[in-house]
Amino acid sequence: MNAAVMCTGSGTNLQALLDAEDGGTLGANIVLVISNRSKAFALERARNSGREAIVRRMRDFKTEDEYADELLSVLRDRDIELICLAGYLKRLPAKVVTEFRGRILNIHPGPLPRFGGQGMFGHRVHESVLASGVHESGPTVFFVDEEYDTGAIIAFTPVPVQADDTTDTLAHRVLAAEHLLYPRVVAAVARGHVKLLDGKCVGRLND
Ligand code: GRF
Repeated sequence: MNAAVMCTGSGTNLQALLDAEDGGTLGANIVLVISNRSKAFALERARNSGREAIVRRMRDFKTEDEYADELLSVLRDRDIELICLAGYLKRLPAKVVTEFRGRILNIHPGPLPRFGGQGMFGHRVHESVLASGVHESGPTVFFVDEEYDTGAIIAFTPVPVQADDTTDTLAHRVLAAEHLLYPRVVAAVARGHVKLLDGKCVGRLND
């Protein structure tokens, strides 16, 4: 199964997926990396590992519809069957979500739905978790729908919050958990062990 990964920034999750593919455990071939930022380090990671890396920015298109058509065209050209958002900070056009429903995954660095939504990304998530006083955070992987962070949840890894945590220390531990979780989820979806059915996630991860 051909997969595309979409990134905005550093791409450490992309790297974890590439490493899993190289290690033979991903169950998918990452053939394309798309960024909406030309300076994203994720593009370099992709090129360093021999994958095609391209930039597509909404602002270079007249309308969202044209942007969506361009994304769909590059995805269809490469027979992409699975899209993994990995630190992609834009909402995907609804037209793309509709065509790929159940085949778009995203990872969020905190528990959902409580610590998600528009504007909840990066350190804001960890600040909000610490301010709330909860004892547990951790990454959540979900099927993407038309809204921010509201799609059916596939998996969550608990990461205990420590009394002396700062946003940096918590972010660091959650990110390490992301790198373990995301490749497992991608493998489960790629192998058909987990799927979206009537808006709900069915199946389970293999351990
Ligand atoms: C991760 O924390 C992920 O949960 C969120 O964006 C961040 C991306 O980090 N969606 P990286 O670019 O993979 O290092």
